[in-house]
Amino acid sequence: MVEDRIQVGAGHMPTLGLGLWKLPEQSVASTVVDAVAAGYRHVDSAADYGNEEAVGEGLRQVLKTTDVVRDDLWVTSKLWNTFHRPEHVRAACERSLRDLGLDYLDLYLIHFPIALKYVDFSDRYPPEWIYDPTAEVPRMEPDLVPIAETWGAMEGLVEAGLVKEIGVCNFNTGLLHDLIASSRRPPALLQVESHPYLTQERLIRLAHQYDMAVTAFSPLGSLSYLELGMAEAQECLLDESVVCAAAERLQRSSAQVLLRWGLQRGTAVIPKTSQLERLRENIDVFDFSLSDAEMNAISALNRNRRFNDPGLFCEEAFGSFYPIYD
Ligand SMILES: NC(=O)c1ccc[n+]([C@@H]2O[C@H](COP(=O)([O-])OP(=O)(O)OC[C@H]3O[C@@H](n4cnc5c(N)ncnc54)[C@H](OP(=O)(O)O)[C@@H]3O)[C@@H](O)[C@H]2O)c1
Repeated sequence: MVEDRIQVGAGHMPTLGLGLWKLPEQSVASTVVDAVAAGYRHVDSAADYGNEEAVGEGLRQVLKTTDVVRDDLWVTSKLWNTFHRPEHVRAACERSLRDLGLDYLDLYLIHFPIALKYVDFSDRYPPEWIYDPTAEVPRMEPDLVPIAETWGAMEGLVEAGLVKEIGVCNFNTGLLHDLIASSRRPPALLQVESHPYLTQERLIRLAHQYDMAVTAFSPLGSLSYLELGMAEAQECLLDESVVCAAAERLQRSSAQVLLRWGLQRGTAVIPKTSQLERLRENIDVFDFSLSDAEMNAISALNRNRRFNDPGLFCEEAFGSFYPIYD
């Protein structure tokens, strides 16, 4: 049995949400409207996706033209790396709220355990990774801010009523232990890359042990990373024989099998798509079940293949070796 909501702190988050990374500014508003019409009640946004104003336009249309009210929706956003200093956290959150046209977020996450030098809103927004794109050698510039300091400011956002729940992304087990030890309000959710090539059993088990919900990003594996040159075409989970066999038995698509696998192992999943048919396909995963044997066979595909690895892309693209996983 898979619930369509899971507990996140005091809230209940729909287990299937729409990922908004790389959805183009010109079309993301209509994608949000289509998603809500297709039954989505959860969107996964971030300042860094550069489309929050357009997402806000979509949310406004939904709230104006349908019976859906704000409380029916679960909106997540994320604190970007350049805003980790406690004095910048509230302004970053308020900017996301303003762009999204909301007066509260359901969940606000630290996007990466990576603090970068502050870039003012008037200089560039979103600031992305490079400190000064006009420099002779443009590169990212780390700023060593203790996570506990950033977290204290995140806790302040809950106290100020700007966000209902707070959590983290891309943390490893060691960072989670430390954060729990130093926090007044423990993180309600961990969002990490997870799919059958990167099952992350220990990390997910630890998060659950700490009563944190877990959201799996990039639940379809390599697909999101092909266009970025960060994955090879042959690393395609959709073509794996155990995935295809389950899809054949259930008369479902491989993508639906992968999303169902993520749900049945107790994580939320947030697939991104720009295509209407796939929006419908991806949420239509609540009326069938994978058998234990299918779950085990799909989990056995694990090869600890991480597509979203700052230890690689920060050096290749931003000139700074900055690993966060061993
Ligand atoms: N916290 C973090 O650091 C972090 C990092 C990465 C992602 N995320 C979040 O997680 C969300 C999901 O991850 P993701 O976007 O990387 O990857 P994903 O959702 O696993 O995969 C998206 C890719 O799969 C394709 N796709 C979607 N549905 C499909 C289907 N039914 N059949 C075949 N192909 C399909 C999409 O293409 P089309 O658009 O053409 O359909 C796109 O290329 C993001 O959008 C973002 O919100 C968070």
